[in-house]
Amino acid sequence: MAKSNSFTCSACGASHSKWSGRCDACGEWNSIVEEAPLSAGPSSKSLGNKRGSRLALTDLATEETPPPRTMAGVDELDRVLGGGLVPSSAILVGGDPGIGKSTLLLQAAAQFAHKGLKTFYISGEEATAQVRMRAQRLGLQQAPVQLACETNLRDILTTLEAENPDLVIIDSIQTMWADNVDSAPGSVSQVRSAAHELTTFAKRKGIAVIMVGHVTKDGQIAGPRVVEHMVDTVLYFEGERGHQFRILRAVKNRFGPADEIGVFEMTGRGLSEVANPSALFLSDREEPAPGSVVFAGIEGTRPVLVELQALVAPSPHSQPRRSVLGWDSGRLAMILAVLEARCGIPFAGLDVYLNVAGGMKISEPAADLAVAAALLSAREDAALPKDTVVFGEISLSGALRPVGQTENRLKEAQKLGFSSAIAPARSKIGDKPGLSVQKMPDLAGFVGEIFGAG
Ligand code: TYD
Ligand code: MG
Repeated sequence: MAKSNSFTCSACGASHSKWSGRCDACGEWNSIVEEAPLSAGPSSKSLGNKRGSRLALTDLATEETPPPRTMAGVDELDRVLGGGLVPSSAILVGGDPGIGKSTLLLQAAAQFAHKGLKTFYISGEEATAQVRMRAQRLGLQQAPVQLACETNLRDILTTLEAENPDLVIIDSIQTMWADNVDSAPGSVSQVRSAAHELTTFAKRKGIAVIMVGHVTKDGQIAGPRVVEHMVDTVLYFEGERGHQFRILRAVKNRFGPADEIGVFEMTGRGLSEVANPSALFLSDREEPAPGSVVFAGIEGTRPVLVELQALVAPSPHSQPRRSVLGWDSGRLAMILAVLEARCGIPFAGLDVYLNVAGGMKISEPAADLAVAAALLSAREDAALPKDTVVFGEISLSGALRPVGQTENRLKEAQKLGFSSAIAPARSKIGDKPGLSVQKMPDLAGFVGEIFGAG
């Protein structure tokens, strides 16, 4: 019997036996597409029946010299890469269309080329003239980067085999076309196959390959998640289209810490690095206003101060709105429930809006107390004391739990001119002249102390 086509989610790559409107695995809508079945190969029998060649095994103790890394000389990029570019590595840079991936990678290509790496930039999306125009706009026309516009993967690999570059940038993986796969460019099988070919090529030749992957909403082309497991490093380039800030975030890195971020600013002449993101995120802060709280956070290895803004208003709807930008909505529901159950402060009948300023995304539970403070401040229409930072995790019992890197958070706050902090009671804090730290055992105590309510 002929094998029937299978159905694959173009967002996460999960396979399904039949089409449906929503992927059970990742919850994405309209992302399931029909794919031709993978061919079973010359023999579909168990591999164990065939004689393979024997592997050379080694001890764990074998000395390995760490791979020589190349620094781009752009701190924000080098840090996210885990301390420079590693040879023999495959890196995926994902992000929404138009967020600035091509700009970032053209600039990175120029930096690495100046550092002596033989660098190729292969665009499957734009014509050479367009890439050259962008290079001109960025002032990079003199950079020793070799440029090609091609989507045929076989031709690209043949060229790379002959030219032996150190770094190849593929913009984007969704435009690549492998002629041995029988489906359209951008489909899950094409994207997977292209990423696999490029990754194995990188390992075999000891070169670094950076692939661009567009994040898709409509499921027309496969998203970068279908190749995340294949590559060594996954970086996401995020930001709000209307904001000039862009954040490069390492979500997976085999050669360095994950969760590290690099902050950039999109200017008329490309991306420039932001060495002090806290100052930038707080730069358009006005006088202390109800609903606004500064959270002392940690992103990767670096402290970052961000402003949380909340608005609480009577709801005209029977089902009040809960709207969150830059934080987890499940976590917001939890904090609202704890405020109600442990402190007797109800939010029923009130719309709640929470926003992390500057287009930043926070995932730390350490922001719990700052979120609660913003919500209370908005609800009571009372601003928090001036120049105060807040951090701490809230447990379901209403107790406050200390969080990691307390010292770093406080140092950053002091550096930016904050004079007081509110932290969980059991935090270990050394002497800090010029900074007064209020330690709170639980949420009810915090509410009583700061808002005089309970
Ligand atoms: P681009 O790198 O093409 O995005 P992607 O590859 O992620 O799709 O960037 C596109 C946007 O960046 C575009 O809207 C214009 C803006 N931009 C600047 O603001 N300044 C610049 O110097 C450049 C090159 C682009
Ligand atoms: Mg692009």
